[in-house]
Amino acid sequence: MNICVIGTGYVGLVTGTVFAELGNDVICVDNDSSKIESLDRQVMPIYEPGLGELVERNHNEGRLRFSTDAKSAVEFAEIIFICVGTPSSDGGETDLSAVGAVAETIATHMNGYKIIVNKSTVPVGTGDMVKNIIRINCNADHQFDVVSNPEFLREGQAVHDALKPDRIIIGADEKRVAFKLLELYSSLQAPMIITDVYSAEIIKYASNSFLALKISFINAISNICELVGADVGDVANGVGRDPRIGAQFLSAGLGFGGSCFPKDVKSLLHTSGKLGYEFGLLKEVLEINDGRVDRFVALIRRRFPELRGKSFAVLGLSFKPNTDDMRDARSVEIIKALHGEGAVIRAFDPVAMNAAKKLLPPVAFCQNAYEACNGADAMLLITEWREFKLLNLEKIRRTMKSPVIFDGRNMYDPERKRRLGFEYFGLGRKSPNNRPEKGA
Ligand SMILES: NC(=O)c1ccc[n+]([C@@H]2O[C@H](COP(=O)([O-])OP(=O)(O)OC[C@H]3O[C@@H](n4cnc5c(N)ncnc54)[C@H](O)[C@@H]3O)[C@@H](O)[C@H]2O)c1
Repeated sequence: MNICVIGTGYVGLVTGTVFAELGNDVICVDNDSSKIESLDRQVMPIYEPGLGELVERNHNEGRLRFSTDAKSAVEFAEIIFICVGTPSSDGGETDLSAVGAVAETIATHMNGYKIIVNKSTVPVGTGDMVKNIIRINCNADHQFDVVSNPEFLREGQAVHDALKPDRIIIGADEKRVAFKLLELYSSLQAPMIITDVYSAEIIKYASNSFLALKISFINAISNICELVGADVGDVANGVGRDPRIGAQFLSAGLGFGGSCFPKDVKSLLHTSGKLGYEFGLLKEVLEINDGRVDRFVALIRRRFPELRGKSFAVLGLSFKPNTDDMRDARSVEIIKALHGEGAVIRAFDPVAMNAAKKLLPPVAFCQNAYEACNGADAMLLITEWREFKLLNLEKIRRTMKSPVIFDGRNMYDPERKRRLGFEYFGLGRKSPNNRPEKGA
């Protein structure tokens, strides 16, 4: 099939590449010409394991092209995927301006029947909005259908997720259109759920909000653990063994960030409010999450009441491991808070330092974790990259000014770190260091 993907970011680039890998002819369009030029030179604009090889092969074999020319791409395609960003504006409302602009572009260049598929995460009713924009802006009488096909890939494992999705959701008004999409996905052999457009749009928000809820829930439990001296790791382990609950997303720590969870929870909260339903549970999910950074910084402040002049080694900057995505990364809030109080920050991330430079106050970027920890008053583990688990902490301890670890992801075993001579602080961990002050 001839496919056009508009918006060549984390979702669009992976989606387009995987469709090419499945044997389709794909044009990925973006209005950021530097991104398209870089892709044409086979330089990946994002870090995503395994993506580079797949792009290179499909590009070289002519199934995958990159362009800023939306007109030719729309004319070429039978199916057009909208994969542009949908950030939240203040107050949680989703900014649909990019989706609207793309719908207008499609309408202007339509040269026959098209299936327009919304893969961006959009509030319920956006399919209707896209339909209206196309109707108003299309000069000729071309037929079209608008489908919702939300994306569930996870950054850091996006190629795997796109090739082996756990489900494919297709929201279409007519079975005929849904079957066309099924055909496109048929070789992936994933469970397919066909539903109406509204339900498909809600599925994406309900999924992300539920995962965010699990994270906030265990973080709330970790607050209780701290108050009584229990260990949230053990509690999560015991709770997660129940198959009705499941072990995933029960890691207490700094909470969720990234380009999806915070905005999607806010968006669902906003949409439900607009529809007349106060979704208070989601408010609480956000509030608990917002409190995580403050709690972490308070822990640091309690150990180092005078932050001015203290040197902190920040390990991990991206919002989660295996990505360079810095959107809503917890590291930014933490570094800004500590830097604002006069602390010196020495940071290292395996891939996100370039992206981070644009967002952070003056920070010394180091070549590796060892350099970052050299002379530091404490190590702050912010993103649980696997390589940080494998560090030679004995060697690190010898070079630190004081051997203190603040583990924002509860990645290390507190007892083992103590045996290595570290003062260890986690979140909700059983540790003499971890007791919050009364009322905290
Ligand atoms: N990143 C994820 O892990 C993920 C997962 C599932 C769903 N989503 C959803 O997918 C959507 C895209 O997310 P993303 O992370 O890929 O965003 P992104 O910011 O990485 O990519 C969006 C791309 O769209 C381009 N763009 C914007 N307006 C355009 C226009 N008018 N014409 C052509 N290109 C345009 C931008 O230049 C950018 O390259 C969002 O709705 C997001 O919520 C993201």
